[in-house]
Amino acid sequence: MAYHEVEFLTSSPKVEDCPQTDLPEFVLAGRSNVGKSSLINALVDRKKAAYVGNKPGKTRFLNFFKVDNRCIFVDVPGYGFANRSQKELIQFGEMMDGYFTNRQHLRALILIVDYRHKPTKDDITMIEYARELHMSIVVVATKKDKCKRSELSKLKKCISETLGVPTTSILDFSSTEKEGVDELWGIIDSFIND
Ligand code: GTP
Ligand code: MG
Repeated sequence: MAYHEVEFLTSSPKVEDCPQTDLPEFVLAGRSNVGKSSLINALVDRKKAAYVGNKPGKTRFLNFFKVDNRCIFVDVPGYGFANRSQKELIQFGEMMDGYFTNRQHLRALILIVDYRHKPTKDDITMIEYARELHMSIVVVATKKDKCKRSELSKLKKCISETLGVPTTSILDFSSTEKEGVDELWGIIDSFIND
């Protein structure tokens, strides 16, 4: 595994206050507690670059990380967090809308789903939103370590059918086992070099 230089740039609720760089940017989105922050940590091989927690709602605001002076990863709060008030939900929607429609160097949405579960309505809303914006989308199925080997193909088929993406384009991932790290870097590199 390669060594990665990681610099935390900022955490902000407002897209106007987000860092202005020319570096290619990748945003990690997914349900609350699905493992977005853990996946960033696995990619950069750090335990605590991004905040990880047992309780949903650990990540607040838009968190920007500069990696190897080559790209930006943006860790965002998860959606589908039940304990949010109506006001918080509206603020969250506005923050995400502001983000997705304002970041010029955004190269791809990395949509993270839980290998074990059928993607939710919120996941479908997210992927449809990204399609409407003509964004490149990479689907990653994480927490593979928690699945029975004999069930993997059935689970992946369910993710594929629910999100409308071919099984072959869904990346197997486990942050605890570091599975899929090199493959995901390969995909990210191909966007950076494009
Ligand atoms: P929010 O910021 O609250 O939206 O959560 P998140 O999507 O960033 O999830 P986070 O990375 O904080 O992980 C949530 C929980 O899942 C933590 O307890 C992690 O240790 C655990 N977790 C994340 N990825 C994996 C994985 O690949 N395997 C296993 N076994 N546990 C994982
Ligand atoms: Mg998080």
